[in-house]
Amino acid sequence: MRKFKVAVLKGDGIGPEIVDATLRVLDTVGEIFGVEFEYAEGLIGGVAIDETGDPLPDETLKLCKESDAVLLGAVGGPKWDDLPTDKRPEKGLLRIRKELDLYANLRPAKVWEPLIDSSPLKPEVVRGTDMLVVRELTSGIYYGEPRGIFNENGKRVGVNTMKYSEDEIRRVVRKAFEIALKRKKKLTSVDKANVLEVSGLWREVVEEESKNYPGVELEHLYVDNCAMQIVRRPSTFDVIVTGNIFGDILSDEAGVVVGSLGMLPSASVGDRYALYEPVHGSAPDIAGKGVANPIATILSAAMMLKYSFGMDEAAELVEKSIEETLKEGYRTPDIYSEGCKKVGTDEMTERIISNLRRLSS
Ligand code: IPM
Ligand code: MG
Repeated sequence: MRKFKVAVLKGDGIGPEIVDATLRVLDTVGEIFGVEFEYAEGLIGGVAIDETGDPLPDETLKLCKESDAVLLGAVGGPKWDDLPTDKRPEKGLLRIRKELDLYANLRPAKVWEPLIDSSPLKPEVVRGTDMLVVRELTSGIYYGEPRGIFNENGKRVGVNTMKYSEDEIRRVVRKAFEIALKRKKKLTSVDKANVLEVSGLWREVVEEESKNYPGVELEHLYVDNCAMQIVRRPSTFDVIVTGNIFGDILSDEAGVVVGSLGMLPSASVGDRYALYEPVHGSAPDIAGKGVANPIATILSAAMMLKYSFGMDEAAELVEKSIEETLKEGYRTPDIYSEGCKKVGTDEMTERIISNLRRLSS
C-alpha cells in the first residue's frame, strides 16, 4: 500500500478542531483509494511558545523536513498579542515558510454556487469566478534588508526593503505559468512597474519567461488597477502571479469577493517541501465551541492530495463531496443563511465523509 507521512501542526484557537476534522476526511480518502496516511504531530505558534518559548521549535522543523507534506491549522491569539514582533506566533509561520523555502503560495478563490449570495458582489458579477493567486512567499518586502527602526538625526525612521533577485522572480513565475497551463491558460502578472524598479525587473523576467509558454495568454496589471478589476470583473481572471505583499493583499480581496473566509484553502510549495493551511486565522472567539467551519482546511488537504501526492482524482472527489454537502443545505454558522440547516464542525465533517463514500461507490 502506498504510504504518505504528513506532519500535522494543529496550532492555536480552532486549529486543533479543524485539523482533526480534516484527518478524518483524509482517512476516508485513504480507505477509498487504498493509500495510508501516517500522521506525526508538531508544535507551532502560541502553543509552541507556551511549551518551549519558541513559535517554531527545531524539533517541529525537523519533523516537517522528514515528512512528505505538512498540514497546518492556524496560529495566534490574544494571549500572545503583546509579545514583540519577533516572538509572536506569526513569526513561526514566517520562519517555516523561509526555512522550507516555500516560495510559491497558491491561493485559489472560487465561488461555490450554493453560497453565491454570501458574496458582497451581485451574483451576475461573481458567478463563475475561479481564480488562483500565486504569491511569492519567501522574499520581497517581508524579508528584505535593511529593515528596522533606526535613529536619523535624532528622529526615528522605519525601514523595510523590497528586493527581488531575478532568480527569485523566475522560479515563482515559472510555477505560475506551469499552473496556468493546466487551467484556463491565462496569466495576469501584477506589479507597480510605473513607480518601482523592483517591479520593472519583475516585469522583464515575466516577459522573458512568457517566451517559453507561448500557449499561455499573458497580461500585466498595476496592483492598484488589479485591485479594482478583481471587484469589477472577477470571473475573467485565471492565474494571478505577484510578489509577497501585493499577493497578501490581493488574495484577501479575491477571497472576500467569492464569499466566505471559511472556505479558502492554500498551499505553499517549494521545490522540496510543501505546506497546506486554511487562509483564515485561529478564530479564538469560537475556539472549543464545536462550530468552526472545517471546509477551508479540508480543501487544503485536497490541494495536498493534488500537488504533493499526485492524487488528482481524490482531490476532485473531496471538492465534489463538499459541493454536494452545501447543495444539501448544511452550513456551519459562518456561512449560514435563512432556510439552511445549521450544523457544527462534527456534523459538517460527517456529512462530507458520507458524501465521499457515496460518490466513490
Ligand atoms: C497571510 C497572513 C500572514 C502574511 C501574516 C499572519 C504574517 O496575513 O498568510 O496572508 O502576511 O503573510
Ligand atoms: Mg494575509
